[in-house]
Amino acid sequence: MAMQEEKIEASAAPDPSVTAFRRIASVAELEPYGQFSKWVDDHDILVFRHGGGVKALSNICPHFGGPVGYHQMKDGVFTCLWHNYRYEAATGRCLTNGKLCLREYQVKVEDGGIWVQLVEKI
Ligand code: FES
Repeated sequence: MAMQEEKIEASAAPDPSVTAFRRIASVAELEPYGQFSKWVDDHDILVFRHGGGVKALSNICPHFGGPVGYHQMKDGVFTCLWHNYRYEAATGRCLTNGKLCLREYQVKVEDGGIWVQLVEKI
């Protein structure tokens, strides 16, 4: 009986590995291009300078999985390598197909590092 109670408590507790911010890079990695992409666990994350800050979107194109950040962002837009779908950097919204949007990650810059939360921004 005591073991069953322990199981219930364990499953109710949030998983800190999912909700906590993780340091994925140093700020220096944004130079010289102001952007980079990196796999962290099963997330391919596109990190870039935007509006005086740093943003993070999924680097995986929802069209067929191409690398959104392969090319340099131009005029606030990323163009996917595979079929040239265009994505607005500010929102992740697809400009080619209005039904598609890139996943956004919460990001913060702290202690010279870039920290990302590996859950969807709500
Ligand atoms: S996979 Fe990105 S445009 Fe097709």
